[in-house]
Amino acid sequence: MKIRKTICSRIKNINFNNISFGKYYSDHMFISKFNNGRWKDSIIKPFEKILLSPISLVFHYGQAVFEGMKAYKDKKNKVFLFRPEENFKRINKSAIRLEMPAIPENIFMNGLKKLVDIDRNWIPKSYGKSLYIRPFLIATSGILSAKPSKDYIFIIISTPVDSYYNHPLKVKIEENYSRSVKGGVGFAKAAGNYASSFYPTKIANNEGFDQILWTDSSTHTKIEELGTMNVFFLLKDKLITPKANDSILRGITCNSILTLAREEKIIVEERDLNVLEVIEGIKKGDLKEAFGCGTAAVIIFFQSISYKGNNYYLPDLSKPERLSLRLKKKLLDIQHNLSKDIFGWRVLLKKNI
Ligand code: PLP
Ligand code: COI
Repeated sequence: MKIRKTICSRIKNINFNNISFGKYYSDHMFISKFNNGRWKDSIIKPFEKILLSPISLVFHYGQAVFEGMKAYKDKKNKVFLFRPEENFKRINKSAIRLEMPAIPENIFMNGLKKLVDIDRNWIPKSYGKSLYIRPFLIATSGILSAKPSKDYIFIIISTPVDSYYNHPLKVKIEENYSRSVKGGVGFAKAAGNYASSFYPTKIANNEGFDQILWTDSSTHTKIEELGTMNVFFLLKDKLITPKANDSILRGITCNSILTLAREEKIIVEERDLNVLEVIEGIKKGDLKEAFGCGTAAVIIFFQSISYKGNNYYLPDLSKPERLSLRLKKKLLDIQHNLSKDIFGWRVLLKKNI
C-alpha cells in the first residue's frame, strides 16, 4: 500500500466541541481499485475529490454499498475499533447481493487500520464521541447498458462525530411506503435503500415526526426498522426486536445489545412484532420503553409513536434506571475501554502499524 500524507493538516480548523454528524472529514482517505478481475493500487492519500466519468455505472444504476463503523479513544489515548470484522463481513454480503466483487479481508482491514492510525488525532476523546468511519464500494465502469460494472473503487473516509440525535424521537408508523421488500435488498447496506427512504422521511418530517417506523411491505402490520436503525420494545419484562429477515438490515449494535441484555438475564425475543401489539401495549401501560439503535445513533429512545393519525406517548423518559440507558452505558463503556471486554469486541489499534 502506498502512503502519501498531507503536508497541511486541517485539524487545527476543527472545533471538536461542535462536530455535528459529517461536518468535517479527516485528513486522509484510503482507496483501492478493482480492474480486470484484480484489486490494485491501494493507497492512503489526502482527502480529496475523485474523478469519475459521467457514465460511471454508480450514477445511473446505483451499484453502491457502504458501511458505518466507529473508532474510540480511551482516557490514555489508546484507540479501539468496535467489531470491525462484522462490518467487513456485512459489506461483502451487501456487495454480493449487488453483483459486486467481494473486498479481500487484507485490503479492508489493512486500509482501515492504517487510515485510522494515520488520522488518530481526529478521534475525539470524550465519552460518547468517536470517529465515524465510512467504507464504501462503487461501480465505476463507463458503460450505459444496465449490467454489472467491471470496474470498482473501494474507499474509506472518516469523520469525527458526537451523538447523532440529541433528543428522544417522535416516530411515525409508515403504512404507505416501504423501505424494502421480501426478496429485495433490505438486508444489504445498499445506497439505493437510503435514497428511496428520503421522500417518505421528508413527508414524515413535514408532519412533525423525526423518523419513520418501517413496517413490512405486504401488510404494513409488522414492525421492521426505525429510519436507519434497528428497533427494540420493552413490553412488560420482555425486550423484543423484530426477527432478522431479508428486508431488515441486521445491525452490529442490535446484535451487541441482544448479547448484553441476555448477559443481564433479561428475557429477549427476536420475533415478528405486530403494530397493534405495540399500540395496545402503550394503551395498557405494558410498553415500558422503545428505542432505536445503530452505529451512528448508538441508542435513542422514543418519545411518541404515531399510528393512523393518533399520537401515543411513552412513559417518562428521564428515569435513570431505564433499561435503554443502562444498555447504552454498558455498550459505550466497552467501546471506550472503561469496562472489561468479555465478548472480545474491542480491537486495539497499535501505533504506526
Ligand atoms: N438498519 C439500517 C437501515 C441502517 O442503516 C443501520 C445503520 O447502519 C442499522 C440498521 C444499524 O446497523 P449497525 O448497528 O450495524 O450500525
Ligand atoms: C449508521 O448508523 O451507521 C448509519 O449507517 C446511519 C447513516 C445512514 C447515517
